[in-house]
Amino acid sequence: MYIEELHRAAGKSVTLKGWVSNKREGKGIVFVILRDGTGFCQCVVTEETAGAEGLINAQNLTLESSVILTGNVVADEKQIGGHELHVTHVVPVGESENYPIAKKEHGVEFLMDQRHLWLRSTRQWAIMRIRNRIIYSIHRYFQDQGFVQMDAPIFTGNACEGTSTLFETDFYGEPAYLSQSGQLYGEAMAMAMGRIYTFGPTFRAEKSKTRRHLSEFWMIEPEMAFYDIFQNMDCIEGMLHAIIQDVLENCTQELKTIGRDTAVLESSLKQFPRLTYDEAVRIIKGEQDVNGKNGIGSLEEELSRVLTRLKEVDAEIEDREAKIAGGGMKKGEINFFQSKVDALKQEKGDLEEDARNIPQWIKSAREFEYGNDFGGSDETVITRLFDSPIMVYDWPHAVKAFYLKRNPENPEFARGVDVLAPEGYGEIVGGGERETNLQLLKEKIVEHELPMSAFEWYLDLRRFGAVPHSGFGLGLERMVTWICGLKHVRESIPFPRMYGRLTP
Ligand code: 4AD
Ligand code: MG
Repeated sequence: MYIEELHRAAGKSVTLKGWVSNKREGKGIVFVILRDGTGFCQCVVTEETAGAEGLINAQNLTLESSVILTGNVVADEKQIGGHELHVTHVVPVGESENYPIAKKEHGVEFLMDQRHLWLRSTRQWAIMRIRNRIIYSIHRYFQDQGFVQMDAPIFTGNACEGTSTLFETDFYGEPAYLSQSGQLYGEAMAMAMGRIYTFGPTFRAEKSKTRRHLSEFWMIEPEMAFYDIFQNMDCIEGMLHAIIQDVLENCTQELKTIGRDTAVLESSLKQFPRLTYDEAVRIIKGEQDVNGKNGIGSLEEELSRVLTRLKEVDAEIEDREAKIAGGGMKKGEINFFQSKVDALKQEKGDLEEDARNIPQWIKSAREFEYGNDFGGSDETVITRLFDSPIMVYDWPHAVKAFYLKRNPENPEFARGVDVLAPEGYGEIVGGGERETNLQLLKEKIVEHELPMSAFEWYLDLRRFGAVPHSGFGLGLERMVTWICGLKHVRESIPFPRMYGRLTP
């Protein structure tokens, strides 16, 4: 029996197999918090129910040792998962000595080095369950609409998103690149199947440490024949609504576990504002308000709030530390004060980060040059003004990929669309309508200094029955990061690969 099935077993005797995620002991009683991957359950061991040997076995259990517990299921609303197991048999399986991840706070680098074990912790478990649900919803959404899932190759002979971020490998003595995007193959498959989506790993050599960039990430790339950019936006919105709705309905417990405020997810279940690049730039530069809010003005207000709070936090830390140092407190009281101090120091770190970042955001928003692509801070500035994702479309063609279609009414602009997630998260989807004009595409390939011969097969798609078509790419980890409200993309994937991290 799995913990998530216990609701069907109240009053019965069941056997659970799992690991000790926590343990408390009293006189003649042991409380084991057992985890089995599907959930957590408090298991109570006493001599009366488990016998002398059972109690000793339970007393000997250590953090993260594995064990098989048999007992009676008692419904109890107060307990995690709503049940408790009154244990009758304890069978230890694998021992665990000096488990390296203790209860106390660890630094992120340490935890990343222990990623193979860190994945067992409650918070990481919840994030991975949400990731799983997102993957499931994506497949369900597209399959229900009749899209065909097809796979693009990972070894490729050409760049898709520009040459600067390619990982080169050796393919039988010839250079080959790890795929940056399956899109070009997606276009070929859409011409065969109508509407397809790929779902695979993609690779980008991003030589910078940011909270948004991985070197290896998973991308969902739908491609639809006979869709223009506006139908593309409808499709993106439909998919994002389906994912959010599904996670809200099916991951309530997980969202609670990670402390996600779901208000913004709920408010995202409406039509997303669609802004042209021009409008978005005016908003970033503070020339246009959003619902009475000015981008730069509200950042300035926030900065002054941050600085005020920082002073308060400093004073409180000093005060509490002085009291601890003053002596005369009981051990319980000291622990209580110390945990407050730890929490305040955590808050202080966050505030200091804001105090460093906000002036930079203000500066880069003020100095934004019309015609440029958005940087991370520009995305932060604009998305903090909205309570749902926004779609920004019609970008200056000079800053976007070679394959995007020009706006026929205004050829300076390409029919690309980026979806930016609220709360400062920024880009989660990039896509657009594709150029179908053979001559224009060839010019673009030359302009981007891409090798024409590698693209001949792609150009064939324009030679033989070209049709208007569109598609997009959703970065899975960016989506997980936003849905879960994570500070950094590295916690959104089981084993992150990024600049400076290849292990475990
Ligand atoms: O905007 P991008 O570069 O678009 C493409 O690759 C298109 N070919 C997609 C298409 O139209 N079929 O990447 C798409 C998405 C981004 O919006 C972002 O969510 C994610 O992929 N992404 C990354 N995620 C994590 N780490 C990185 N280094 C990422 N680069 C892009
Ligand atoms: Mg992009």
